[in-house]
Amino acid sequence: VFDEVCDVTGITLKRFMSEVVLLNPELGELGTLFGAIDTACKAISNLVKRSQLPSSETLGYQGEVNIQGEDQKKLDVITNDLLKRALRFTGRLGVLASEEEDEPLDLISSLPNEAIFSDTEKYVCVFDPLDGSSNVDAGIPTGTIIGIYEHDETCAIDFDDCTDDECSEQEAQCLANTLQAGNNLVAAAYCLYSSSTFLVLTLGAGTYGFTLDENLGEFILSHPAMKIPETSSIISMNEANTFMWDQPLQDTVMKWKRGEGKSGNSFSSRYIGSMVGDVHRTLLYGGIFGYPSDTKNPNGKLRLLYEGAPMSFIVEQAGGLATTGKQRVMEITPDYVHQRVPIILGSKNDVQEVIDAYENAS
Ligand code: AHG
Ligand code: MN
Ligand code: MN
Ligand code: MN
Repeated sequence: VFDEVCDVTGITLKRFMSEVVLLNPELGELGTLFGAIDTACKAISNLVKRSQLPSSETLGYQGEVNIQGEDQKKLDVITNDLLKRALRFTGRLGVLASEEEDEPLDLISSLPNEAIFSDTEKYVCVFDPLDGSSNVDAGIPTGTIIGIYEHDETCAIDFDDCTDDECSEQEAQCLANTLQAGNNLVAAAYCLYSSSTFLVLTLGAGTYGFTLDENLGEFILSHPAMKIPETSSIISMNEANTFMWDQPLQDTVMKWKRGEGKSGNSFSSRYIGSMVGDVHRTLLYGGIFGYPSDTKNPNGKLRLLYEGAPMSFIVEQAGGLATTGKQRVMEITPDYVHQRVPIILGSKNDVQEVIDAYENAS
């Protein structure tokens, strides 16, 4: 059904999602959520592009430190508020978690009037509203990462039908429901604010890329059924940390640099310090992107729930691999909403070489 690309506008994201929902009615609520994501990504793209203008006053620091210990950029806060609002008033979300929120938010009880929520599916949404935000003042590409998990009946809390203790118990269960392994993701998406504005998504049946046509104001299907090259010649890691990495990874990367890897390829290095931009290039050109474990940060830097798991889902659905070195990233259930995870992802033959090196070393 997606092959009929012959009409004038191309397949818009709206049409793509309505065709998905026609074929899979049980995903109806997901279509509503992607309507909100579509709008939010366009709004954030506009904010990021206009932030460089003197009149915008949205560059620079907020003057707050977030729970990650990072100096928040003004745009971290603005984009977080924008996404929270866009998602919450779909009435389809029970819980959301964000890089910029200390704790997961239970959207049902926090709304002025629970009547906004009909008894439809309640999804759990996790997101990194502005990924690579340290780059935003320099106009280097940034992104947004979103993961959507199945709802859980504890998130449809009927406050008239429980005692205070029961309600808070249900709320606690609902919030705990946020912390699911990537294997439970029903959808994942990223938006990339670069030379074009891209939206790449998976619903568990392949990875699809859309490009914003600014004349139409619509995301148009531009990369149907993305497939990552199985072997590559691009290393994409912060190599200032090389001598702090695990030995198996150091050995493998050294082999690649000497042209002595399995593929025999000679390698180049490409790293922009924005995960979304680095992963998007890796999906299209092939490569190995990583923020590995190192002696300073044994769990690396990237957060499992709203960076590692959604991006691993997207890469795996495009035929790539995503590992900590010792296990699939999508198998790990977070204990904590901001838990960090070592991550090496990309072209499957090259990532497999890293997995084998760890296995041989154990
Ligand atoms: P965020 O801006 O959402 O905090 O994420 C930044 C991350 C990720 O985008 C990128 O891959 C990584 O930080 C770069 O870290 P280094 O600058 O330490 O390499
Ligand atoms: Mn950050
Ligand atoms: Mn990030
Ligand atoms: Mn961020």
